[in-house]
Amino acid sequence: MMKVLLFVPFLLPILIIHGSHFRGGIIFWRPWNATPSGSSAAFQVRERFSWRRGYPGCYCDDTTIATKDLIGESDLLSCTAGNCSTWTPMSTRTSCTDYSVSLDVSSGERFNTSIFPLNISFTLYYSNYAWLNELVLGGGSYWFIACRVNTALRPDGYINTSPVAVTLPIIYKEINIQHVHVIQMSDFDGTDTLRCRWSNASGNINQYDECGGICMGVPGASLISSNCTIVFTLTVAYKYAGVALQIEDYYSASSTTPMSSVPLQFLFYGYPTPTGCSIPPTIIGNRPNRACIGTPIGSNVTEYVIVQTYCPGQTIVNFVSSSPIGMRKSAILNPSPNIYHLILSWIPTADQYGPQPFCAGAVDNSSLQSNQWCVTFLVGFESPDVIRPTAVQGSASPIGTVFQNQSVFSFQTTKSVGRPRRNGTYIYFHDATANGSIVAQFDCGWAPEVTFTGFTTVIRFTSTPWTVGHFYYVTMDGGVVSGTEFCGPESAPITDPTYWVFNIWDPAVSSTTTTTTTPMTTATVTTKPTSTTSINTLLTTTGIALTTTVAMTTTSTVTSSTAAVATTIAVTTVGTTSQSQTTESTVAVMYPKDFEQACEQSIALANVVLFLVMTPVQAVVMYAAFLKLENKFNPSRTQAKTRHKQRIQRILY
Ligand SMILES: *[C@@H]1O[C@H](CO)[C@@H](O)[C@H](O)[C@H]1NC(C)=O
Ligand SMILES: *[C@@H]1O[C@H](CO)[C@@H](O)[C@H](O)[C@H]1NC(C)=O
Ligand SMILES: *[C@@H]1O[C@H](CO)[C@@H](O)[C@H](O)[C@H]1NC(C)=O
Ligand SMILES: *[C@@H]1O[C@H](CO)[C@@H](O)[C@H](O)[C@H]1NC(C)=O
Ligand SMILES: *[C@@H]1O[C@H](CO)[C@@H](O)[C@H](O)[C@H]1NC(C)=O
Ligand SMILES: *[C@@H]1O[C@H](CO)[C@@H](O)[C@H](O)[C@H]1NC(C)=O
Ligand SMILES: *[C@@H]1O[C@H](CO)[C@@H](O)[C@H](O)[C@H]1NC(C)=O
Ligand SMILES: *[C@@H]1O[C@H](CO)[C@@H](O)[C@H](O)[C@H]1NC(C)=O
Ligand SMILES: *[C@@H]1O[C@H](CO)[C@@H](O)[C@H](O)[C@H]1NC(C)=O
Ligand SMILES: *[C@@H]1O[C@H](CO)[C@@H](O)[C@H](O)[C@H]1NC(C)=O
Repeated sequence: MMKVLLFVPFLLPILIIHGSHFRGGIIFWRPWNATPSGSSAAFQVRERFSWRRGYPGCYCDDTTIATKDLIGESDLLSCTAGNCSTWTPMSTRTSCTDYSVSLDVSSGERFNTSIFPLNISFTLYYSNYAWLNELVLGGGSYWFIACRVNTALRPDGYINTSPVAVTLPIIYKEINIQHVHVIQMSDFDGTDTLRCRWSNASGNINQYDECGGICMGVPGASLISSNCTIVFTLTVAYKYAGVALQIEDYYSASSTTPMSSVPLQFLFYGYPTPTGCSIPPTIIGNRPNRACIGTPIGSNVTEYVIVQTYCPGQTIVNFVSSSPIGMRKSAILNPSPNIYHLILSWIPTADQYGPQPFCAGAVDNSSLQSNQWCVTFLVGFESPDVIRPTAVQGSASPIGTVFQNQSVFSFQTTKSVGRPRRNGTYIYFHDATANGSIVAQFDCGWAPEVTFTGFTTVIRFTSTPWTVGHFYYVTMDGGVVSGTEFCGPESAPITDPTYWVFNIWDPAVSSTTTTTTTPMTTATVTTKPTSTTSINTLLTTTGIALTTTVAMTTTSTVTSSTAAVATTIAVTTVGTTSQSQTTESTVAVMYPKDFEQACEQSIALANVVLFLVMTPVQAVVMYAAFLKLENKFNPSRTQAKTRHKQRIQRILY
């Protein structure tokens, strides 16, 4: 008894001082150019680690994020099990990007470029002591994290890019109920088959310990390899369970040896069943989960994370996040009851070219966490813009007064676009005369009525819903069209009822020359864009001359909660908005950005763990963009281009 009493006080300080500060991480890599030239190539290796924020050297706050201070242990990412002579050990101190005071976590990221000979392979690993103490399994143990690099050419002649996966460092789950958690895997090599497996200590492709003390760290969990789905039940409240996975890419479904293996280590946190109202908060608008947002280098990016709460007294007290280097987050704002905002601002730098994921989860004061919400910023690309018809005549058709049998509508975009890879991106036709009720809507993700022809997108009604004499306007969700680069940068949402307006000719009211019918009295005009009164209807496609058009801004008719939220926010996103949306309304309609297609698919897969790891794709994106240009001017390259394009597009399925 005395012995125990003496021993315990002695042991505890050791654990507190030396142990328990690792909270997981990710390592992955990609070539800057997937087309081999010569006997070596430049590769970017990227690492992200999370730490206990209170641990010495792991402190992070808004200031240190802005100054890109380094956090974490001064260790090295080392090489083993292969041709290690060309690897220069990389520091494991990372630029701090995210922190949470209440969760006592800080995260950071580092990437660097190295030249490796082709046709070699090796394992990069990081190991030290010790994992967080509060783990159900492996608390205070050694951490091991390992990534296999292989520069051998793929059977298709390209240099491989590792898969990527993203996750929040900590994911809250209620105890004693079964959860299904899907980890989004993606790979720039779109034809690859991706599988994930539990990391293990030996006999694996890394030829090294991949998980240290947290191998199989979620007792009783099962894993579906093909779609990286974890099915598990947490049983201990206020404790963490460590998850250590390897995500591996195979050249084809029948291949048995992966081309690379990347680690993903994060934590589940168990909380007891809340008493009372237990609806978790949700992140709503103004970008949908998995959106791909084009962000030119050097532009001032501002994005809103908007959270809705549902229970009385429920307050958002925290965000768990995973951000690109240099992104700043505002304090948590509460602009209206049950709505919380987090404002992101960021100026992407040239070395961040390519996809940069951001993920967030909101935590309320009962420890309920929202679902993970992730968007990918595609740095160096612009999103397509739907051109405002009142700014550029004829960019949308028809406008003004049209016949009741009008069935073909079209609009133009600032760049060539294609069908979005995501379902749930709608174009809505509203009857302004009937309180803005929706008379038709098309999901651009699949609706056959919507066709994409490069710069022009066409909507064909099979039967027309128009009522004579009524006014109509068109709104669009974000992402109704996508650029053709990597993850398919999405168009911004259009919520402004004055953006695209037309009305149906009423033969009873107007005979030879037409005058507009009076706008519905039920509409509440809140803004009066000046330019909308000067539509030159001679340029409409209908041939109906129109003397005046009254723009109707019917904010009172917006009924959906998300739409209402969106209208309250004047969002200035990426710098390069096109000419089309300017100052005319209080609703910031457009944030032009580009996403590339390949990105989008991978993004579409992951509900939960999407954002952290997209960088490997960067090089490929760059390559794809250059290839595209080159092909344009060099017919002899067309074949190669087609092949490459197929690879990329497979990502989208
Ligand atoms: C890689 O390692 C293997 C086995 O040690 C060796 O045979 C090969 O020459 C090495 N390749 C390079 C490029 O160093
Ligand atoms: C990248 O690696 C080189 C050596 O290979 C090193 O000198 C440089 O500081 C590293 N940069 C970063 C940001 O880690
Ligand atoms: C790559 O290495 C393998 C096995 O070491 C060898 O058979 C092959 O010829 C090498 N390829 C190149 C392009 O050097
Ligand atoms: C580790 O995982 C690999 C790949 O699934 C497997 O081949 C190997 O047998 C595992 N090692 C152990 C010790 O189970
Ligand atoms: C994952 O795959 C399994 C087996 O094929 C399937 O039953 C399950 O629905 C899939 N889960 C998801 C989220 O796609
Ligand atoms: C970026 O935009 C935000 C909001 O519009 C503004 O507060 C901030 O000062 C801008 N930053 C720079 C560097 O222009
Ligand atoms: C959350 O905070 C609100 C406002 O401070 C308070 O009324 C409510 O009781 C809190 N709920 C919990 C579970 O602590
Ligand atoms: C629509 O109706 C107008 C007038 O009734 C007619 O001139 C025109 O041909 C019709 N168009 C179609 C496509 O039916
Ligand atoms: C989108 O919805 C259509 C129709 O419901 C369905 O056939 C298609 O598989 C969906 N696509 C995706 C990516 O979910
Ligand atoms: C429009 O809304 C007003 C007030 O909500 C209602 O009185 C009116 O009947 C509505 N009109 C139509 C056509 O739905």
